[in-house]
Amino acid sequence: MEKHESHNEQNEFIFEATEKSEKAFSHYVMSFGLTENDLHKSILDVGAGEAGFIKYLRDHGNEKAFAVDLFNRGGHKDQNWFLAADIQRLPFKDDTFELVLSLAVVPIFIQPEYPATNYGREMDYKNLISELVRVVKPKGRIMFDYFDRGSCLAHKSHESKDDEQMQRYWEARAKIADEFNEFINNLSDVDVSIQTYSGWSRVMCLTKVGGR
Ligand SMILES: C[S@@+](CC[C@H](N)C(=O)[O-])C[C@H]1O[C@@H](n2cnc3c(N)ncnc32)[C@H](O)[C@@H]1O
Repeated sequence: MEKHESHNEQNEFIFEATEKSEKAFSHYVMSFGLTENDLHKSILDVGAGEAGFIKYLRDHGNEKAFAVDLFNRGGHKDQNWFLAADIQRLPFKDDTFELVLSLAVVPIFIQPEYPATNYGREMDYKNLISELVRVVKPKGRIMFDYFDRGSCLAHKSHESKDDEQMQRYWEARAKIADEFNEFINNLSDVDVSIQTYSGWSRVMCLTKVGGR
């Protein structure tokens, strides 16, 4: 498995920003350093929230863009591109998407009390990552933000040293971040690269190396 550090520079994109979902679109493009070429691929947004990013792509002609979330937060009606489902059991066939994105979701799964309970169900990052690897095409990419050990310790240093509960919380998150890292490093069918994102979060990119 290859590993390297690279910087996530903001790439150009040409879609005109004219609509309500513009903000979500810009946020995704900047967070993941997406190129214009990426925006025309078959794309799945996992834990999409209001799904503004995918709506924007659909409105601009990408008919291969899909969103999944437990809840229809955007109130989408009669849309075949939004599916309400658990992202640990995605309603898609193997090897379907060229690009699988997930923003502000994986950190919910990597909690000290792993496997975490959230939204009334168990959240197991192993199930989630396995699903993302299953639905991405060979040579396709999976990208998500997450906290590594350094992110957790940066958070910890910003908490008051007298707040023992928060100090312990970030220590525990650093430990689970290490376990997550080990799990990723043991995946046999992806290459891993890490990009910088903001000061504390990281963006991980997994490239599927072959069929399963
Ligand atoms: C912090 S929001 C991020 C939304 C969107 N990605 C964004 O960046 O605006 C996390 C989303 O993950 C969804 N989510 C969490 N666990 C999920 C699960 N097991 N299955 C489907 N969606 C889930 C939540 O419903 C929520 O919309």
